[in-house]
Amino acid sequence: MAFGVYVHWPFCAAKCPYCDFNSHVRAAIDEDGWVDGIVSELEWTAANQIVRPVVETIFFGGGTPSLMTGRSVGRVLQKIAALWPMANDAEITLEANPASADAHRFADYRAAGVNRVSLGVQALNDADLKKLGRLHDVAEAKAALAMAMANFGRVSLDLIYARPDQTDAAWRSELQQALSFGTDHLSLYQLTIEPETPYALLHKNGQLRIPDEDLAAGLYETTQEVTEAAGLPAYEVSNHARSGQESRHNLIYWRYGDYAGVGPGAHGRLELNGARTATAAIKLPERWRDTVGKTGHGFSEMTPVSNQEAAREHLLMNLRLSEGLDLAGYEKRWGNGLDAAKINSLIGEGFLLRDGDVLRATPAGRLLLNRVIEELLD
Ligand SMILES: C[S@@+](CC[C@H](N)C(=O)[O-])C[C@H]1O[C@@H](n2cnc3c(N)ncnc32)[C@H](O)[C@@H]1O
Ligand code: SF4
Repeated sequence: MAFGVYVHWPFCAAKCPYCDFNSHVRAAIDEDGWVDGIVSELEWTAANQIVRPVVETIFFGGGTPSLMTGRSVGRVLQKIAALWPMANDAEITLEANPASADAHRFADYRAAGVNRVSLGVQALNDADLKKLGRLHDVAEAKAALAMAMANFGRVSLDLIYARPDQTDAAWRSELQQALSFGTDHLSLYQLTIEPETPYALLHKNGQLRIPDEDLAAGLYETTQEVTEAAGLPAYEVSNHARSGQESRHNLIYWRYGDYAGVGPGAHGRLELNGARTATAAIKLPERWRDTVGKTGHGFSEMTPVSNQEAAREHLLMNLRLSEGLDLAGYEKRWGNGLDAAKINSLIGEGFLLRDGDVLRATPAGRLLLNRVIEELLD
């Protein structure tokens, strides 16, 4: 079973009004103290595993991990390598914000062992970047991208589409521009209005005109068409890559492998003391750190995952992938197969496709995945 480690860095230079990630703005950060907390949680996790699996991937996510110094990233990586056996070709990704990217840090990250960067570009026009509350403009995003590509063999960039007032033609040309940069991976997220964000309030008050369902569905189709033509088809709902350049770390989630999650608010799914366990860490950084100081970890949730729940999660994750679900493997792992009549009925409705033992969601099915899963497991 593939094993990855997720490290959450919960700080950002400013909070974007659409974002509900566990990210916080602080006037000053005692960076060594926060890294000490992450190191403790890593030690606690490894000490509670009966078998220590080989680490195949590490992902620094946030928040904005590119606010960390190379020294801090190096401390975390050295600790992971001391606690677990590491794959020779481990994929080590760090998420970077163009506003906090600098050449010096990128070189330090590379020296520390990072070999892949995911850059939050979000939009390729200045007016929209401003509306998204971003601290960088397009020129800075392009400079950060050039720097990332000079330092790392593998670079991905994030864009948000279905933005306020965005037309299909504008998105098509923006996407073509993004593809022309030549990265082998793109994460293309449809804007979600997350509850209790400033965007949710603006939307409620009619001050944010986002594309209606039809236009958004059209933008999704355009996304598939343009990326496929460029040789970076979707391998997951929002993720596109040239063959072989998929994010191995995210594939662990979607193939329902094991991963440890450390840092405030991080989630994990891994064998702890012999049982598949769901972990979730305390979200508020200061509270997380106090708890880590007292108990060695900041997990507020450590729940054994029943076979029934695990089977459901496995299905949900696998159907996000264009490679789909291996029905025989699923039945073998959970001791229970899926109902053929329900599968056929969802195929009839245009939500699923079956190819021998492989079950896939159609693009329509991927957009309504929760409903499809409920019907399958009902
Ligand atoms: C942790 S951030 C990436 C790194 C860095 N914090 C940044 O913003 O540049 C993860 C990504 O989630 C996406 N995202 C966040 N909130 C979103 C929302 N409400 N709708 C769609 N995408 C969103 C953005 O594309 C963002 O780059
Ligand atoms: S989008 Fe990125 S930079 Fe903006 S608040 Fe969220 S995590 Fe921070």
